[in-house]
Amino acid sequence: MNTTLSALLYLAASVAFIMSLRGLSSPDTARAGNFWGIAGMAIAIVTTLAQPNMHVSFWMLLAMVIGGGGGFYIAARIEMTALPQLVAAFHSLVGMAAVLVAVAAYYSPTSFGIGVPGAIKTGSLIEMGLGLAIGAITFTGSLVAFAKLQGLRSPALNAMPMQHPINAALGAACVVLLIWFCATGSEAAMWLLIVATLLMGWFLIIPIGGADMPVVVSMLNSYSGWAACGIGFTLQNSALIVTGALVGSSGAILSYVMCKGMNRSIFNVILGGFGTDTGAVAAGGAQKEQRPVKSGSAEDAAFIMKNAASIIIVPGYGMAVAQAQHALREMADLMKKEGATVRYAIHPVAGRMPGHMNVLLAEANVPYDEVLELDEINRDFAQTDVAFVIGANDVTNPAAKNDPKSSIYGMPILDVEKAKTVLFIKRSMATGYAGVENELFFRDNTMMLFGDAKKVCEEIVKSMSGGH
Ligand code: TAP
Repeated sequence: MNTTLSALLYLAASVAFIMSLRGLSSPDTARAGNFWGIAGMAIAIVTTLAQPNMHVSFWMLLAMVIGGGGGFYIAARIEMTALPQLVAAFHSLVGMAAVLVAVAAYYSPTSFGIGVPGAIKTGSLIEMGLGLAIGAITFTGSLVAFAKLQGLRSPALNAMPMQHPINAALGAACVVLLIWFCATGSEAAMWLLIVATLLMGWFLIIPIGGADMPVVVSMLNSYSGWAACGIGFTLQNSALIVTGALVGSSGAILSYVMCKGMNRSIFNVILGGFGTDTGAVAAGGAQKEQRPVKSGSAEDAAFIMKNAASIIIVPGYGMAVAQAQHALREMADLMKKEGATVRYAIHPVAGRMPGHMNVLLAEANVPYDEVLELDEINRDFAQTDVAFVIGANDVTNPAAKNDPKSSIYGMPILDVEKAKTVLFIKRSMATGYAGVENELFFRDNTMMLFGDAKKVCEEIVKSMSGGH
């Protein structure tokens, strides 16, 4: 394949990736976005394999079949709720690939056209050094994120005393090693840099609290993009440079959007320890609330809602766990038939990943115009008869507004308590992800509907349609 044609095809692949990102920004175009991504990747792979200096071997094809087949198998079977850890696990592979490519280029510089052994061009050493360091941090950092999201427990995942000063010292050592490697191309410097950055990735992520893991995953996503970008320069592959930059910048924007949703800075996330196990124990353990709560049945809820003219549904992580979105939509359809206005309020960090709730509601064919963002709907709770909170907790917790000592203080929340009646569907009095007690459960205008979200919705539907 001649260079002009391959440049054009790489350009086409890059455009397809941009179209993919554009499509993925909204649930109604997400499917098309995925197809653009697949098309872009197919063009990029075929173009790379057709390069004149490429020797396509049996082993390369076998690796692609194993990797592609494995990815397809896992993605087809993964539960929606396990997506964040899947993404973390996949990022670790991108990080590892960046390290391996840099090491291969170091030992075989002639085949990469970047110099001869012992005399690699300084520009290439910088690209390799950066790709390698970011790749190694992404690799171990993503493994820790995966382990935490999967709920795995091990002493290796516990932060050490003085973790932050240790990290600062290790960070300084990584910078020195990187400079040494780029200046001299020394083999010892490269291996020491790999070890130090692998440790850095691990140590950087272990002190971060569970509730902040989605932000970390998106941050690592961004790192993996920049690592790929660095390697793209080493390989002189324009498609990899563009793709890496797209992943790097979109991951960074996503992290920013999530931090904004929680009203926190990225430094606060990295240094914070928000939602750590200790916090959860302190809030949900020894000082557990003993005040009485008002709890009701599905029939009570059906009665209240039949008499309501306006209802705002607030979905959260529990709706995803219960896969209650279809039953919920059925319930909403019935309420609309009764003449009520039904809308959905989406908090920017409801669930465990950005857009989590939107995707589930779209899956259940909830009309997009009924689904509103926090800023668009928050003022309306005061004029609403029923706030129907389904599997959400932290995103409604007024401690974020009025308890400066709370770990979620400052996070914007949905003002559900301003509605005439608040119905909370959850299985118990347990805290949400941040481990903070929700005072709303004890309010006079709250009724708890204890049970699995899907089951309760189905019972309400049955009751509303007179089937009990
Ligand atoms: P949470 O505060 O985690 O609350 C979810 C609630 O769902 C739990 O209290 C749980 O109570 C209930 N639940 C679980 N399974 C259920 C089931 N089968 N049926 C009914 N209820 C069930 O969720 P949220 O309000 O969506 O808040 C999201 C949290 O994640 C926030 O702390 C946020 O900061 C954090 N976070 C999110 C993101 C993104 S991007 N979404 C990023 C970073 C952090 P029971 O156990 O009593 O049932």
